[in-house]
Amino acid sequence: MTNTDSKSTHLLRVAVFISGNGSNLQAIIDAVTNNQLNIEIVGVISNKADAYGLQRATQAGIPAVALAGKKMHTFEQLASKQLIAWQADMLVLAGFMRVLSAEFIHSFTGIMLNIHPSLLPKYKGLNTHQRVLNAGEYYHGCSVHLVTPALDSGQVLAQGIINVQPNDTADSLAERIHPIEHQLLPLVISLFSRGDIVLSTNSQNHTIANLRNPLQQLPLQLIL
Ligand code: GRF
Repeated sequence: MTNTDSKSTHLLRVAVFISGNGSNLQAIIDAVTNNQLNIEIVGVISNKADAYGLQRATQAGIPAVALAGKKMHTFEQLASKQLIAWQADMLVLAGFMRVLSAEFIHSFTGIMLNIHPSLLPKYKGLNTHQRVLNAGEYYHGCSVHLVTPALDSGQVLAQGIINVQPNDTADSLAERIHPIEHQLLPLVISLFSRGDIVLSTNSQNHTIANLRNPLQQLPLQLIL
């Protein structure tokens, strides 16, 4: 079998961690169903037993595991075993509200992505929408980035931007940013699955992502 053959037959095996509603998980599921994303979603893990995203996974026939009410160390041990059993190549944090340890992040040898509701590196952490309003920002948005042990600080791969309107509230910002997240996350996953984004290690032994062909035409993001 040639390299190209093996590439075309191996679908990227993607696991997703969630804590709640799972609308970003749904966007990934829908993109797969609509043939916009050629990956296998191998399983979903939630740290909350009542996360609605677990039902979304089950409805789509995807293994769904609740590891609820556990200390983080125990959660990570069980989750690691599950990721190995699923042979996950990629782990997507899609509304996963716990902070993973450096040990866990380093132990996962695949690609780890997070979706965060701000224009990183601004507004890491929680309550991003209210903090953006308090600061009187003109722009807000969401970012997909590589996960590193420092919270919301890994390499940013893609962003969606909105204008903050004078009458915006934290809720209206969340409502306008969510649909952009739902486009952005599947888009970045698809760039990895097609081999258009590749990971390498730099001289400081840090993992970095690059476009395979830097001159390639990528979809441009509109500012809305
Ligand atoms: C999203 O806004 C995401 O950016 C943040 O948590 C939210 C999750 O939403 N990390 P959902 O559970 O995917 O609907």
